[in-house]
Amino acid sequence: MGMPTVYTTAHELSSLISRAKKSGKVGFVPTMGALHDGHLSLVNKALGENVLVVVSIFVNPTQFNNASDLKNYPRTLATDLDLLSAFDRVIVYAPSVDDIYPKNDFFEPIDLDGLDTRLEGAFRPGHFQGVVHVVRNLFNIVQPHRAYFGQKDFQQLAVIRRMVKRLNFTIEIISCQTHRSEDGLALSSRNIRLTDQGREDALIISQTLNYMKNLGHDETPSRVMELGAAYFSKENLSLEYLEIVDGESLMLLTNQWSAHSVCCIAAYCEDVRLIDNLEM
Ligand code: PAF
Repeated sequence: MGMPTVYTTAHELSSLISRAKKSGKVGFVPTMGALHDGHLSLVNKALGENVLVVVSIFVNPTQFNNASDLKNYPRTLATDLDLLSAFDRVIVYAPSVDDIYPKNDFFEPIDLDGLDTRLEGAFRPGHFQGVVHVVRNLFNIVQPHRAYFGQKDFQQLAVIRRMVKRLNFTIEIISCQTHRSEDGLALSSRNIRLTDQGREDALIISQTLNYMKNLGHDETPSRVMELGAAYFSKENLSLEYLEIVDGESLMLLTNQWSAHSVCCIAAYCEDVRLIDNLEM
């Protein structure tokens, strides 16, 4: 197996991918690095379904609306490559900003039917346009048959599916279950910035989601959100939102449950912004 080959330019990568496509399908796992078991499970799934898997590692500046968040985002390329060396048939694309955003790059905000302005979008203006910009460019460079995304970023998945439809990409978008540690914390690259105490406190996030799910659908979504917020306030994390939404439109549910109701949460724990979600 050994270290994966790292490509830093779209040009080098494209010729390798064209050759691979002669023998089968190409899978793509876009990441911002600081890989954890959640990413590795995406790679594993992609390897089961494709002859070659491209993992991109690129901390995308256009999706950060906060300079200190961008600065503090973990960058661990050497460890990432080490983790990927456990796999065969994986190559890494770790480009520079100029390679992803060349001078002639043209991008106009994509109409995402408001999926980009709710929940995360309300607190991180421009975030999802930054995500669709980089993912569009990555898709154009890699041109995979399939792309793999984790359900922890539930809204991101909805946004990317909408972008794929809008821009007529023929790439199959595959969503993969959220990976959790045994005590329930959703795996995230940001978790490594938590102290031991912070990591302990952060458990209230998944505990609240489970508590709300267990309340069932006898109460209205509004009441479940109210009870959830009260439960969450036992711990001193700072809550940004805790919303039960329709899984397709991401519209807030108040009186009625929908066929696919999802509770989404974002909170700060020790200045680290964490998100999670659970189907209710
Ligand atoms: O989910 C992420 O890590 C990023 O948003 C993505 C999809 C790699 C785009 O930068």
